[in-house]
Amino acid sequence: MIDYERMPVHVGIIMDGNGRWAKQHNVPRLVGHNAGMEAMKEIVRRASDLGIKYLTVYAFSTENWKRSEEEVSGIFKLLVKFVRLDLDELNEKNVKVMTLGDYSVIPDAARKSLEKTLETTRDNTGLQFNIALNYGSRDEITKAVNAIVKDVQEGKIDGEITEELISRYLFTGDACGNIPDPDVIIRTSGEERLSNFLLWQSAYSEFVFTDVLWPDFSPEVFEQTIEEYQKRDRRFGGRK
Ligand code: FPP
Repeated sequence: MIDYERMPVHVGIIMDGNGRWAKQHNVPRLVGHNAGMEAMKEIVRRASDLGIKYLTVYAFSTENWKRSEEEVSGIFKLLVKFVRLDLDELNEKNVKVMTLGDYSVIPDAARKSLEKTLETTRDNTGLQFNIALNYGSRDEITKAVNAIVKDVQEGKIDGEITEELISRYLFTGDACGNIPDPDVIIRTSGEERLSNFLLWQSAYSEFVFTDVLWPDFSPEVFEQTIEEYQKRDRRFGGRK
């Protein structure tokens, strides 16, 4: 049973295994991504219903551009579909959509739909749903360092560079409401690595890995991963 007193505030998810799911079902990879998008919608609903404050999903990494042009454009078409069909429901549920990463380079149609969604849900106060798009943590840290150097040179920063200051310059910082670090990061499909997702922010996160492929990641499995997280004893480097 989920303990509502100990809900994670911020949940990060590496949605992995759409391709293997497609292979298992003998269908094209994009059919797997479509099933993955449906799973993602269900998880957004459930996260909102559970009262989780922040949900961050790894939707497209800086490395995913290496995939075939057909697969890349297909993934962005799915993003448009998600945004178009679900804007009303997102609003009804008071969900605020934000992005992590430089999305200015994604295809025009996807960028425009996304911008509309960001704008329309801007004042919502429920679940904050962060979509990491063209996101990579090393890119994020590199951009932060460059921005800090520039602000030092321009005299906007004086004094010491602290951890708090670095955090503010990350995509999860000022640009995204300075969201708290993830309490738990979930990765599906049996892979057990971070793949350049929230490297700085996950310093004290719990990791929950499941063999379930992303399209099969149901709200029930989501709740099980939260229960697994709740069994962990978080000490943040201190002692009891
Ligand atoms: C990982 O599976 C999944 C992705 C790289 C894309 C994730 C996309 C979605 C869940 C749907 C689209 C939603 C948005 C918001 C763009 P994989 O292809 O790496 O699977 P594999 O490792 O089994 O090949």
